[in-house]
Amino acid sequence: MINTPLHKYASVACDVLSPEAYAYIVGGAGREGCIARNEGGWSEILLSPEPMQDMTGLSSAISIQGTKVDFPCFVAPMAFQKLAHPEGERAMAVGAASQGAGFVLSCQTSVAPAEVAAGPFWFQLYLQNDPVATVSLVQTAIASGASALIVTIDAPVNGIRNREQEAGFVLPEGIRPVLMDGLPIPAKPTDPVVSRGQTAPVWDDLARLCRHSPIPVFGKGVMSVETGKRALDAGCAGLIVSNHGGRVLDGLPATASVLPSIRRAFAEATLLVDGGIRCGEDMFRAIALGADAVLVGRPVYFALALDGARGVATCLRRLRDEFLATMILCGTPTVADITADHLYRNA
Ligand code: FNR
Ligand code: LAC
Repeated sequence: MINTPLHKYASVACDVLSPEAYAYIVGGAGREGCIARNEGGWSEILLSPEPMQDMTGLSSAISIQGTKVDFPCFVAPMAFQKLAHPEGERAMAVGAASQGAGFVLSCQTSVAPAEVAAGPFWFQLYLQNDPVATVSLVQTAIASGASALIVTIDAPVNGIRNREQEAGFVLPEGIRPVLMDGLPIPAKPTDPVVSRGQTAPVWDDLARLCRHSPIPVFGKGVMSVETGKRALDAGCAGLIVSNHGGRVLDGLPATASVLPSIRRAFAEATLLVDGGIRCGEDMFRAIALGADAVLVGRPVYFALALDGARGVATCLRRLRDEFLATMILCGTPTVADITADHLYRNA
């Protein structure tokens, strides 16, 4: 896979995954228009090269809310990584740490957080119906070394995923969300969708978490200025512009389309973005549009399936090299130099 670009991983990994797991990972909500828009959204952003710049001190490293990374890239939180490899989240974390990328552990991890720690990590949290259960998850994550909480606000229910349903995806024997062990199981509702809707978390729940959390909290799933304002008012230290990789609502715009207005509204906020980032140039485009860093989802999941921790390392190394090459070609020696001035404007 060393010579394979990230956007082609899916077609290679398809052969090593079960058809059901492949459908779960690659697919999204509805007819998957949002997935296509996410990827296409970055390709439409054109760059302006700046040759012959002094590149002394070239570095892609950044620090974000106290977390140092060698390039502005985090592995997105993704559930059940044992679907891709027997070592699951542990191998993913090792691959990320080996390349100086950040790692976000999903609330639906298939490996216990204490067994994952390959370096500093962020923990993605779904607010639970029972506040005691939420506190227990947070305590477990922090005890295992989590240095930030990423609260996913956009998925109180799963999207309607046609491809996943048609493939008949169910978790295989031996793979489960291990953090849910021991949490109180709510009584089985007669109508699960209505019940989940009625008990979905609200802004006050997020505000309560922010008030009590000893580590920074980010809101993940921001797709409008209004939602971003709510999350910051609730006490979030940063925002993640995301449509969950097109896995919850098919009718959402590309994250590349909404990022600029969110950056304009919150000039000082820590802002990350994900959805359809498939090469180092896409990373550069995202940062030029106002992101501080990006998260990458499906490509690293497929890399894990293809070659475990080594596959993840190969994937992230390629992304970093592509990003650095783009920085050099655009004449930006540091990540802070990447601004909208490096976007092409038709004069
Ligand atoms: C996800 N995503 C996700 N997000 C989250 O907050 N908690 C989770 O448990 C999961 N699980 C999950 C599983 C799988 C298989 C995928 C592909 C994605 C969404 C993820 O964090 C991220 O927002 C998107 O994957 C980014 O888009 P790309 O890079 O996959 O296009
Ligand atoms: C998903 C859930 C786990 O996207 O967030 O599959």
